[in-house]
Amino acid sequence: MIPTIGLTESHASPEADKSVLEIWGRSTLKGHVRISGAKNSALAIMAGALLCPEDCRLRNVPSLADVASMSQILLALGLKLEKNGDILDIDARNIRQSQAPYELVSQLRASFFVIGPMLARLGVAKVPLPGGCAIGARPVDLHVRGLQAMGADVQIEHGIVHAYVSGSNPRLKGANIYLDYPSVGATETLMMAATLADGETIIENAAQEPEVADLANFCQAMGARIRGAGTNTIIIDGMKRLHSVDYNIIPDRIEAGTFLVAGAITHSELSVSPIVPDHLTAVISKLRAIGAKVITESPNCLRIIGAESHIATDIETLPYPGFPTDMQAQFMALLTLSDGDSVITETVFENRLRHVAELNRMGADIRVKGNHAIVRGVPMLSGAPVVATDLRASAALVLAGLAAEGKTTIKALQHLDRGYENLVAKLQNVGARLQRLEGEGETESPSTSLNPANVA
Ligand code: EPZ
Repeated sequence: MIPTIGLTESHASPEADKSVLEIWGRSTLKGHVRISGAKNSALAIMAGALLCPEDCRLRNVPSLADVASMSQILLALGLKLEKNGDILDIDARNIRQSQAPYELVSQLRASFFVIGPMLARLGVAKVPLPGGCAIGARPVDLHVRGLQAMGADVQIEHGIVHAYVSGSNPRLKGANIYLDYPSVGATETLMMAATLADGETIIENAAQEPEVADLANFCQAMGARIRGAGTNTIIIDGMKRLHSVDYNIIPDRIEAGTFLVAGAITHSELSVSPIVPDHLTAVISKLRAIGAKVITESPNCLRIIGAESHIATDIETLPYPGFPTDMQAQFMALLTLSDGDSVITETVFENRLRHVAELNRMGADIRVKGNHAIVRGVPMLSGAPVVATDLRASAALVLAGLAAEGKTTIKALQHLDRGYENLVAKLQNVGARLQRLEGEGETESPSTSLNPANVA
């Protein structure tokens, strides 16, 4: 086991898949939720730290299982890491080896993003193919084709991607790359690789997600020359070397969106901050269409006022700035209680409707036809034992449990722990009645007098 230096063990431990979340529904929530740093920014930026042969300090890094996994991978590559609270110090002076460990990469798709920085820094990288996961096959052909366009020789043997740049001074070359699909990961991999390439790289049809722009800002803070991040065309002028940086990661828009839906589904009033409202334009628009009030309380704070009833609304997931696929399951939970039929279309991943079966166990009325879910609103959900299938599906089940009559128990919490920091405490602090039991357990419903904050 690779030592974790000062890294807080989140619920990444194997016990997480034995623990159970018990939720007693129909509590009205009230108060403020503090939003953590963005998981999908932190993971990409941790890979980006490989580009820098000096110290990097990252702030607002959430304590999540995925961050712990990525830290393990960087440690295995020879980097030094030290996490204190939400500050992560990374020293990538000595990259001791160029192969990321198989057993770690197969658990965390984002770890594949190290291939770009490794190749740019060392001229060689061996990274196991990230396995498919619950939501889809998750191929990496766009990453590979882009690196090949930049002069890398890439072979895939026995599940390992071997990439190297030939020649005595192995350096990637700038290239014009068009992405067949605006892949977030491929955009990030290629943008990072291009920061140290010889010449100019243009990435067209690039992903525009805020996390891509955050990664670009991080690289620029290290001295990289990047223009257009956050648009569909990114231009990078390669540098010979990057330097030390102290960088603050953006707030997690998906965590914030999840709590906004928690306010809507429980007909409550909640505020969330810090957050960048512009990162949630599509989510706010759909919450308003469904009938909730969403107010920008200050430049970094949003307030939701849930409506008494929810208006059936169609949703189609799209690359940013379209409606985010990472919010699809959460909105499905909300729309199970709407006053009509909603059609939810998942266009980004081929298998991201697995939460339908579990929501139906709670009394929802959802039918799947291809990549469409037809959600017929019902007056009430009923608490039930359910099993999480992936990260955002877990969040949807928590939201459904908050609204349901009676008790919901959720198993397979390792999915939830990947992407939500202190979720139970954050919900308890705004009046939700729930508790996490390590190992399966049955308990009486807490009396209404019990202060939720004191629940274990
Ligand atoms: C990132 O995954 C996020 N993960 C995902 O968040 C998010 O759902 C996704 O972007 C879309 O926004 C991280 O940033 C760590 P993609 P990524 O490459 O980069 C296909 C969460 O819940 N594709 O944009 O893997 C792919 O199969 C996670 O926080 C190729 O075909 O997503 C998918 O259908 C889940 N070939 C589509 O593109 C490739 O080479 C979008 O994938 C790459 C992708």
